[in-house]
Amino acid sequence: MIGKLNHVAIAVPDLDAAAATYRDTLGATVGPPQDEPDHGVTVVFIELPNTKIELLHPLGEDSPINGFLAKNPSGGIHHMCFEVDDIISARDHLVEKGARVLGDGNPKTGAHGKPVLFLHPKDFNGTLIELEEV
Ligand code: CO
Repeated sequence: MIGKLNHVAIAVPDLDAAAATYRDTLGATVGPPQDEPDHGVTVVFIELPNTKIELLHPLGEDSPINGFLAKNPSGGIHHMCFEVDDIISARDHLVEKGARVLGDGNPKTGAHGKPVLFLHPKDFNGTLIELEEV
């Protein structure tokens, strides 16, 4: 059911410093910061030949990233995103298998303008999983 790894998201306490590390130290292609108010994050995408890295920084007081950074002050891997062909049929299959979908269970529009869902980390070996319909 899951397809390509679309991105790995890393929560970072300093977005400019993290973007500079990927650009200047690792020599990657780093995009501009984008505010995603619906998700409470500012993101920077890093294009790699086979996938992307998504740097996540809190946007606003209610950002879901604030708690993560409180527990992981130097940052850390926040989630992985897998591509699916049909997000509704993927969700229905996962729910049937006993997996928990976060929020109200309906897809939201993600950072690439495509429908996304998040799956409970306790059901996936402690890893928050995002599904994106492509
Ligand atoms: Co993501």
